[in-house]
Amino acid sequence: VPSRRVLVAVDGPSGSGKSSVSREVARRAGLSYLDTGAMYRAVCWAALRDGIDVEDAETLGALVRAVHVDISTDPDVERVVVDGVEVTTAIRGAAVTAGVSAVASHPAVRAELRSRQRTTMDAAPTGCIAEGRDITTVVAPDAHVRVLLTADPAARVDRRARQVEQSGGAAEAGSLAAGDVSTAVLDRDAADSRVTSFVTAADGVLELDSSHLDLEQTVQAVLDLVLAAQAEA
Ligand code: DC
Repeated sequence: VPSRRVLVAVDGPSGSGKSSVSREVARRAGLSYLDTGAMYRAVCWAALRDGIDVEDAETLGALVRAVHVDISTDPDVERVVVDGVEVTTAIRGAAVTAGVSAVASHPAVRAELRSRQRTTMDAAPTGCIAEGRDITTVVAPDAHVRVLLTADPAARVDRRARQVEQSGGAAEAGSLAAGDVSTAVLDRDAADSRVTSFVTAADGVLELDSSHLDLEQTVQAVLDLVLAAQAEA
């Protein structure tokens, strides 16, 4: 029996593990995968390229409508190209990480990216799992499965520190001390929550606290929901 085409929405703060979890669920369920945070990062990269002030709403609005962002939706291929330039690694760097919350705060930026995100989700042949901050609430409130992935701050700081360590410190400026990682994660929480509310689950959104779950357990919990949705008539 061919499985039903499903849309899956996953939101959560940074360090909640939503990217790793969503990518793995996409692989196992045969879905496209969309990292919407990478799109905001791509626009921030283009703004820095053009020397645009991240507070300049009007110029950013024009930029976001003109910029070409090509993002892989194959969960096995991490690749982001902006106006023909491969930026997969660059968008994880310190400059983009520092500017992206401000860029994402402008309604014109959000409106354009939201529309592109929805188009990408709707074009996925077997369905799509999209992750970010406003997918369960704004981009795909109609998704068959909606999950808010949380983890307490200690767990998120710990995961982020290990991510930075694994990438040889390249994900952030230099190699950060534990206290710096902690400050960076908590500062970005504060900046991000001014833009979208993802701290408490909206109506109909399942909150999954991964503080005491490992990656495999978290993947299984989300995958169960996705497989059930695919099996529904
Ligand atoms: O998930 P991330 O850290 O790569 O996200 C980068 C930034 O983009 C983050 O500061 C919040 C913002 N963002 C957003 O406002 N809405 C989304 N759907 C995804 C990310």
